[in-house]
Amino acid sequence: MTWDPDQYRRFQRQRQRPAEDLLAAVQGALAGRAPRRIVDLGCGGGFLAIRLAESWPGAAVTGIDRSPAMLAGARASAARVDWQEAEIGDWRPDQPPDVIVSNAALHWVGEHQALFPRLLAALAPGGVLAVQMPRNFSAPSHVLLAETIREGAWAARLADRLGPAPVHPPEAYADWLADAGVDLELWETVYLHRLTGDDPVLEWTRGAALVPVLERLAPAEAEAFQAAYAARLRLAYPRRPDGTTLFPFRRLFIVART
Ligand SMILES: C[S@@+](CC[C@H](N)C(=O)[O-])C[C@H]1O[C@@H](n2cnc3c(N)ncnc32)[C@H](O)[C@@H]1O
Repeated sequence: MTWDPDQYRRFQRQRQRPAEDLLAAVQGALAGRAPRRIVDLGCGGGFLAIRLAESWPGAAVTGIDRSPAMLAGARASAARVDWQEAEIGDWRPDQPPDVIVSNAALHWVGEHQALFPRLLAALAPGGVLAVQMPRNFSAPSHVLLAETIREGAWAARLADRLGPAPVHPPEAYADWLADAGVDLELWETVYLHRLTGDDPVLEWTRGAALVPVLERLAPAEAEAFQAAYAARLRLAYPRRPDGTTLFPFRRLFIVART
């Protein structure tokens, strides 16, 4: 899957807000302790890894991502972070980290029932696993994306893009991470993003959920797909009298301390 860092950055302010909330949750879970090793899985352009390095200047911070384009942006910063191109599914730490964070990335990685306990087990004693993932898969933005896939000439070619929601209900993570001595917090936040410009929800999804769809289509077909999807989105997310479009976005936070 080919990420476009510029498209992703178009809504940088809105996308950074949950990352800041995740950082605050890590600070709370550490309760004043200074971590020595921090890993950011799916670090993308590096915003959160850089904030982590700033927050704990004595810590060794590693950013893991499989996208060379996203990592190129991260490497352009002067931050004291070790950026590594790698698959999250294959990642195993050389030494147990004190903190593993992942913001808006693990929904792209499958098999959460095995992945989450493995990440928890990789931590040093007293370590913190802090994850944020979108859980917006029943929102109009996703339902209409599926409808647009099913009702076009591209339906057969995009059938495998119609998989089940990759993020499970919070109760599932509570079960998978339940272990004596693990302090677990789970919560959801619905961010009411106020977007501006033409077809802003289409533009938002062009930076994330639409990426694996559009990369399957020839340019003319990709244009037709976006036009059909945008027409549906305009009805579901009308522009308000003040010119903004409200885009409610539910996200799940999981913070576990060993
Ligand atoms: C939505 S971006 C989030 C980036 C960053 N964490 C942030 O909050 O801005 C998702 C990132 O996860 C990365 N990613 C997705 N699946 C991955 C995998 N299996 N292994 C490594 N990186 C992955 C993508 O390359 C992309 O940079």
